[in-house]
Amino acid sequence: MIRSVVRGIGSALPRRIMKNAEFEKLVDTTDEWIVQRTGIRQRHIASEDETTASLGEAAARAALDSAGLTADDIDMIILATSTPNNTFPATAVEIQERLGMRGGFAFDMQAVCSGFVYAITTADLYIRGGQAKRMLVIGAETFSRILDWNDRTTCVLFGDGAGAVVLEAQEGEGSLDDRGILAASLRSDGSQRDKLYVDGGPSTTCTVGHLRMQGREVFKHAVGMITDVIEDVFAKTGITADDIDWFVPHQANRRIIDASAKKLGIAEEKVVITVDRHGNTSAASVPLALSVAVENGQIKKGDLVLLEAMGGGFTWGAVLVRW
Ligand code: ACO
Repeated sequence: MIRSVVRGIGSALPRRIMKNAEFEKLVDTTDEWIVQRTGIRQRHIASEDETTASLGEAAARAALDSAGLTADDIDMIILATSTPNNTFPATAVEIQERLGMRGGFAFDMQAVCSGFVYAITTADLYIRGGQAKRMLVIGAETFSRILDWNDRTTCVLFGDGAGAVVLEAQEGEGSLDDRGILAASLRSDGSQRDKLYVDGGPSTTCTVGHLRMQGREVFKHAVGMITDVIEDVFAKTGITADDIDWFVPHQANRRIIDASAKKLGIAEEKVVITVDRHGNTSAASVPLALSVAVENGQIKKGDLVLLEAMGGGFTWGAVLVRW
């Protein structure tokens, strides 16, 4: 049985770090409020010369290096993003060109903060369907460009960055001991789209718009949605919370992460946390957290890793992967 195995991983962050204290000069907020309500202490903010494409390219190059491959070995790119360089063409094709990749194909996928979880699930289907052998799956965002910097309820929450994995088709036994993606579950509910959205777009306002969020409403739904979809993955595989080596959740809010892990019975020491350093980087948050956890020696070959994300739409999903 063909499995989609993670062969390489990498990430990239903008040069500029913005600490909570800087917001005290911009809006009516405090470092203490931000840390207590969200767990965020700092985030990286893209400078003018840093874009979703440049961050995505840097993360992709790091992932290729760690896989010992070059762009010529890749036959497909999916970029998860809600902050593309242009309305079209897809930022994925710009990354394809920046990498010097001459063959294959590339496209963007838009599921806001769930983007990477949607993209890696889609990538797995392309690989198992025989359409691609080696793929780059990238999450890259510059949310700082769509924030309303006068709105204290949203501007303190987000950051910019990118993460990428190289997925490779490898033969497995068809058992849960195989390396690679073992199960996934995706959901969306368009009736909730007014809870978290951007108030502009090409076909409505002819503008890019700004992010708007009913934070309390999102918070109210988050833990239930996250745990539902993970329980679905557990039911599909017979895996339990005790079997998980690492839980890599979407990094939006420390309180949501802690409450989800507690409800699922996942031990605190198995939870990867980067929200304190990166803020919410939307589709980049899960691959960025994965990359940090691999780099610092937490996630090792053979570990059972549970990914999860939820975001605007609402969209949400979970993926189980043996590293
Ligand atoms: N500084 C100081 N006070 C603030 C700030 C701030 N930055 N922001 C809001 N407040 C105030 C509010 O105005 C409110 O004041 P009031 O009581 O006088 O009305 C008070 O703090 C409490 O506000 P709440 O919204 O109830 O605060 P809460 O504890 O819910 O925390 C937060 C807000 C952090 C936004 C939280 O609701 C949250 O994390 N929501 C979920 C966000 C999320 O997970 N998004 C994921 C998807 S993101 C994506 O898909 C792009």
